[in-house]
Amino acid sequence: MRPIHRFFPVLPIVIGVSSAALALACDRAPSADGLKDWAPTDHDGEKKASSNQGPKGDAGGPAALVELTWRNQCQSCHGPGGHGDGPQGPMFKAQDLSRDDWQAGIKDEQIAASIQNGKGRMPKFELPDEIVKGLVGRVRSFRGK
Ligand code: HEC
Repeated sequence: MRPIHRFFPVLPIVIGVSSAALALACDRAPSADGLKDWAPTDHDGEKKASSNQGPKGDAGGPAALVELTWRNQCQSCHGPGGHGDGPQGPMFKAQDLSRDDWQAGIKDEQIAASIQNGKGRMPKFELPDEIVKGLVGRVRSFRGK
């Protein structure tokens, strides 16, 4: 009788993991809601910062998730183009990520660390490495824009 009980708690975990995997495998946004504030001008900042990205390239799935993450988790402070002009930008004093001098003085690893650990009034974000890497590329794409 006991062994059956011991296996029980594993079930929700298995279900949780497989649905997370499904969500990641899907290269479209899981909910159409997140897409409604898309504007054609957003594409301007979207060019891949290929020179900073290394040879890995992220064609396909992760790019859509990165985009969704930026819009849902970052844009409220940093604004669509990274200028710190999102609705919450002034309140938190989110810096302008497009500034050339800031871009020149910071390494990719530092950008990733600030996203993962937080910095000043910016909260930390627990995101998969792939997404953090993509967000670094996104931040780089704002340079000089
Ligand atoms: C609640 C508002 C807020 C949100 C949401 C937010 N940030 Fe920030 N971010 C800030 C503020 C404020 C700073 C300036 C921090 C400082 O230098 O004290 C900052 C700084 C940064 C920096 C510069 C870090 C450095 O080391 O100089 C990067 C890069 C950045 N944010 C990226 C992001 C990304 C990517 C997201 C989404 C995952 C995000 N931010 C979400 C407020 C926010």
